[in-house]
Amino acid sequence: MSPRLVPAASDPAGRRERPLTITVDGEPLTGIAGQTVAGVLLAAGRPAWRRAPSGAPRGVFCGIGVCFDCLVTVNDERDVRACRRRARDGDAVTTQSRAQGDERDGRRAR
Ligand code: FES
Repeated sequence: MSPRLVPAASDPAGRRERPLTITVDGEPLTGIAGQTVAGVLLAAGRPAWRRAPSGAPRGVFCGIGVCFDCLVTVNDERDVRACRRRARDGDAVTTQSRAQGDERDGRRAR
C-alpha cells in the first residue's frame, strides 16, 4: 500500500473530495477533508518531519496515537499527534524537533 493520495478521478470507490490547504512551516500543502495532518504530510511525500534527540528522522511510526513520534505544533498548540489530528482548512502546522542544536523545540533535548 502506498501512502500517496489516490486522485479521486482514478479512485475505484468513486469518492468525492472536499479540498483543504494547510501550511507546514509556511509551505502550503493540499489535502482532502478527512485526512489527518500526518496523512496530508505523507501524501505530499514527506515521510519524516521531526528529529529525535539523536538526530534520527521521525514521522509516523504507530499511526494510532501511541508512540508520539509524529508530534507537531498546530495553530500554536504544541505536541499535537499528527496521526490523530484531522487537518482543517487553514491549519498552520510547524514541525518540532528534539535533536541537539535544533532550535525548533523550546525544551532541552534529552
Ligand atoms: S505515529 Fe505514533 S502517535 Fe502518531
